[in-house]
Amino acid sequence: MVYGGYSYLDLDYEPGKEDFVVLFYISGKYELEKLAEAVASESSVGTWTDIKTMNDYVFKHYRARVFKILKVRENEGFVYIAYPMEHFDLKNFNQFQASVLGNIFGMKEIESLYVLDIKFPEKYQKLFKGPAVGLDGIRKYVGTDKSGRPHVGTIVKPKVGLTPKEFAEVAYKAWANGLDLVKDDENLVDQDFCKWEERFNEVYDAMDRAEKETGENKIYCVNITDSSIERMVERVEKVVERGHNCVMLDVYVLGFTALNYMLEITRKHKLIVHAHRAGYAAWHRGNYGVNFQILEKLYRMFGVDQLHIGTGVGKMEGGALLIKRMHELAEFMEGEEKFYLGSMDFSFSEHIKPIMPVASGGLDPTKVDALVVIHGNNVTIQAGGGVHGHPNGTESGARALRLAAEAVVEGVSVKEYAEKHEELKKAIEKWGYVNPEDVKKRLEFESYREELDRLALSKGIEFIKNVAWHI
Ligand code: 3PG
Repeated sequence: MVYGGYSYLDLDYEPGKEDFVVLFYISGKYELEKLAEAVASESSVGTWTDIKTMNDYVFKHYRARVFKILKVRENEGFVYIAYPMEHFDLKNFNQFQASVLGNIFGMKEIESLYVLDIKFPEKYQKLFKGPAVGLDGIRKYVGTDKSGRPHVGTIVKPKVGLTPKEFAEVAYKAWANGLDLVKDDENLVDQDFCKWEERFNEVYDAMDRAEKETGENKIYCVNITDSSIERMVERVEKVVERGHNCVMLDVYVLGFTALNYMLEITRKHKLIVHAHRAGYAAWHRGNYGVNFQILEKLYRMFGVDQLHIGTGVGKMEGGALLIKRMHELAEFMEGEEKFYLGSMDFSFSEHIKPIMPVASGGLDPTKVDALVVIHGNNVTIQAGGGVHGHPNGTESGARALRLAAEAVVEGVSVKEYAEKHEELKKAIEKWGYVNPEDVKKRLEFESYREELDRLALSKGIEFIKNVAWHI
C-alpha cells in the first residue's frame, strides 16, 4: 500500500529508544492502512503525490513508520506510528506540534483522528528542565512532608466581580480557618473591578496575617496569565519583590511558547507554578483531538509544579479509572500500559520531578474520602463552591475541608468525623456523602483489564471514551 507514492507501513519495525511513539485512533473514507499511511506521510516527509525531490536518504532517515495497526473496522482502528528523533527540531516544541499534532487533523479523507498517547524518548526529555519545586518541595514549604496530609485549598468565588478588599477578606477567612492554598480563578487577572496589583497586595497582606495567626505557611496562586509577555514578567517581578513564592498560569490558553518563556523566569526565582488547564477539553473531548495525558506529560516536562488533573468524583469529565491514570502521570516516574484507557507504558526521565496533582471542580468536604481512594494523600483538594457554599459560610467551609483532610491522616472516615464536628455534619446535610466504597468498586474494574482491553479492541474508541473513561 502506498500514499503519495511511498509506503509508510513497516509492520516489522520495532521502535528504538530514540523514536517518538504515537498512538492514534483513526477513522475515515478508506481502509485503515491507507488512512494510517496518510497520517504518517503528512505528519512527516510526504504529501498527496509522489515528488521528484524525494530521495532515499530523506525517506529512510526522516519518515514516520506505521508499525502496528489494530483494526476495529475496515476503516477504523488504533494505529501506532514511530517518528525518528532526527525528524524534529528538538529544541522547539512548536515544530513537534506542527508535525505530529498539525495538518493531519484537517485531511479530507480522515473522519476522526484522536491522539491517545505519546511516548517521549528519554533523550528528548533530557532537553527539558522539569519542575523547579515539584511535589516534595511544595510539601516541605507547607510543612506537610511528615504528616503526608492532603493539601486543601479554595478558589475564591464568585469567580469574578469581587473588589480586591472583598477578595482578600474571603482569602483571609479561608486561610485562617485551615486551608493551605487560595487561588484566583482562571478568568480573573486584571479586570477594572479588581486590578491585579491591588488584589495581589491586599491578598498578600491577608496571607501574612493568616500565617502569623496559624503558624502555617500558606500558598496564594495569583493568576498572572496575559497575552502580553511584558505584563506577565512585570507581575513576576512584583511577586518576587514582596517575597512571595507562587504564581498561577492558565497553561493551555497560553500555549507552549509563552509557557516556556515564563517558566524560564519563574524557575530562576524558584517560584511554585500552579497550572490551571482551562480549555484543555477543547482538545481532549470529541472525535478530533489530543488526550489530556499528553498535555500533562508535557506540562510536567516543561516544568509546572502543580496541575489540575480532574477529580473522578466532581463536576469535570473523567471517571475514577481515568483520573487515577492522570494522577499517576503527575506523581510517579513510571507507569504501565493501560490499553483500555488508550494509554501506553511510560517512564519519566529521572530529573523530571513529580508534580503536585490538583483535584478541582465540583468538590466539597464530603467527597474527600472518595477522592483519596483515587488519588491517595499526595493531592491538593480544592473546593470553590464546596467551601463558600457551606451553610455557615467560608469560615465553616474551610474548617470542614481541613477537618476532612485531618480525618484522612487519622484513618477515620469523614462521615465518622462528622459525628464530632459540626462543620462536617452541616456539609453532609447539604451535599450528602460520596461513599468511597463506590469508588473502590469502580477501580476494581482494573482487575478485568484483559476484558476491558478486548472490549476496547472490538468496540474501538467509543468504548474507551464512553465507558472506560467514565468508570
Ligand atoms: C477550578 O478552578 O477548578 C474551579 O473554579 C473550581 O470551582 P468549584 O470548586 O466551585 O467547582
